Amino acid sequence: MSHIGSYEERYKSFNWKQSEEELEYGKNGMYNIGYYCSDRICEKGNGKKLGLIWEGFTGEVKKYSYNDIRVYSNTIAKFLQDTGINVGDRVCLFMDKVPELYLGFIGILKMGGITQPLFSAFGEEALFTRLDDAKTKAIMIQKKHLPKVRRIKDKLPDLTKIIVIDADEAATPQINEIHFWMEKTPKVEKFDIVKVGPEVPSVIHYTSGTTGKPKGAQHAHSSIIAQYITSKWVLDLQTDDIYWCTADPGWVTGTSYGIIGPWALGVTQVVLDAGFGAEKWYAFMQKYKVSMWYSAPTAIRLLMKEGIEAVKKYDLSSLRHLASVGEPLNAEAVVWSEKAFGKMFHDTYWQTETGAMMITNYPGMKIKPGSMGKPFPGITATVLNTKTYEPITSPGMVGLIALKPGWPSMMRSYWNNKTTYDSKFKNGWYICGDRASIDNEGYFWFVGRDDDVINTAGHLVGPFEIESALLEHKAVAESAAVGKPDPVNMEVVKAFIALKPGFEPSGDMELDIMNFIRKKLSPLAMPQEIEFVPSLPKTRSGKIMRRLLRAKEWGEEIGDTSTLEND
Ligand code: WT7
Repeated sequence: MSHIGSYEERYKSFNWKQSEEELEYGKNGMYNIGYYCSDRICEKGNGKKLGLIWEGFTGEVKKYSYNDIRVYSNTIAKFLQDTGINVGDRVCLFMDKVPELYLGFIGILKMGGITQPLFSAFGEEALFTRLDDAKTKAIMIQKKHLPKVRRIKDKLPDLTKIIVIDADEAATPQINEIHFWMEKTPKVEKFDIVKVGPEVPSVIHYTSGTTGKPKGAQHAHSSIIAQYITSKWVLDLQTDDIYWCTADPGWVTGTSYGIIGPWALGVTQVVLDAGFGAEKWYAFMQKYKVSMWYSAPTAIRLLMKEGIEAVKKYDLSSLRHLASVGEPLNAEAVVWSEKAFGKMFHDTYWQTETGAMMITNYPGMKIKPGSMGKPFPGITATVLNTKTYEPITSPGMVGLIALKPGWPSMMRSYWNNKTTYDSKFKNGWYICGDRASIDNEGYFWFVGRDDDVINTAGHLVGPFEIESALLEHKAVAESAAVGKPDPVNMEVVKAFIALKPGFEPSGDMELDIMNFIRKKLSPLAMPQEIEFVPSLPKTRSGKIMRRLLRAKEWGEEIGDTSTLEND
């Protein structure tokens, strides 16, 4: 498929079929993502090429060729089969960014399991909700995260295989625990990859909404068709690239573009299993000569804070292309990146639900700093009137971002929650839940979310989970969690709390509540501030008006609240 030509030509001539053909998707009845990310690359003669260079936080380095990826994922797949995991069982990956996470992801898919990656910083409550909802059978875990699982496993009758990947040799497994060491297990050279159909579930990623529990966006194996072609066109991945996706595979960016896309293309990727640090990151990119870098606005804002002087201490001349996702990428960050790296960050817009990039800036297109770009070829996107759900035709008018269903990586449902899934469609459009406008050249400009979900440092946090945790505290009568502005994270969580009679607001009370919820929530969802209020504003039907509280934090016009009150 041609890389060349104007946006319009490429958009017009695009066909998903061509991407399928390039990938040889479905040859010999094979649709399993696991095959396309390892065996196929080896069959093409690239078995010796490095697929993964991993560096741990202590500086330890491990390297895996595509043949290693093939063999280790076989080894994990066979182990899972032998241990009694069946096709269609949910297998959770709950680890830091260690090699077993990446190889385990491929291994689970190869044996027909459904992978359920979860961010290892999640607290036990967040973990419990997601394992309970998916009726997860197995979890692959590092010993450091085991205490969280041990505290909740009695409430999870389906969770019968707790696979510890780095147990001490002398440790005795507790009930339902199994010790597995990938590198010590006899290598499985040949494994019969389970021949799943293209529509068979592959991955479930949990994502938060305004109401109810987090929802499991369920994807199918054929999602790879979209992940492959967007990795090629938008990330512009080429044979000799050294690619770095900074996202954790606990989130969709870390699987779609931190595993599937790059490995389907046979590219070498690097992983740094360590926290953020501007100079740490620059040194890492210099050491491995990273040429393509996919990151997020919060990270870029943190880098901006350290200044261009920090950048200039390193030789980053290997960088060829930069892209960003997850939150609005402000024009300032785009302009800064050009000064700092000689390259502009290319914004991409998509969601857990869409499985792959939807609105993008790719090489060859004119970039308008501050705009998310234009729909990727094969994607029909528009903005809809909020009341009629009809496309808005006049440029610059704000509406709801909507996509015409039919691209390969769209979620197939929310796990166990078809009703919520169905509610996301109006007039034949999939509604993303965001607001934007389109200019007269077809560029999309992000305005904000259309719900009460908080986007903090690129992570979506549902107010419901935070409020539920708060309500379990003995002194809390009612609560509301909203996003308040933050120069680095875009938003941070602020909680409003009305106390029960007999309890008084105080610094000690605040501390007590914070400590109480810390155990339940992931660090991302933790409120940065608590404000005690006598009561919370509500609609006539009793719903808390988070939007009003939020507007105050942002210094926005509150406007006519009478409609809100009638919600
Ligand atoms: C939400 C999806 C799939 C990427 C990781 C996040 C926001 C995403 C952009 C962007 C402004 C963006 C939206 C979207 N978002 N990309 N380029 N500009 N906002 O996946 O956790 O499902 O979040 O993140 O609000 O709906 P997610």
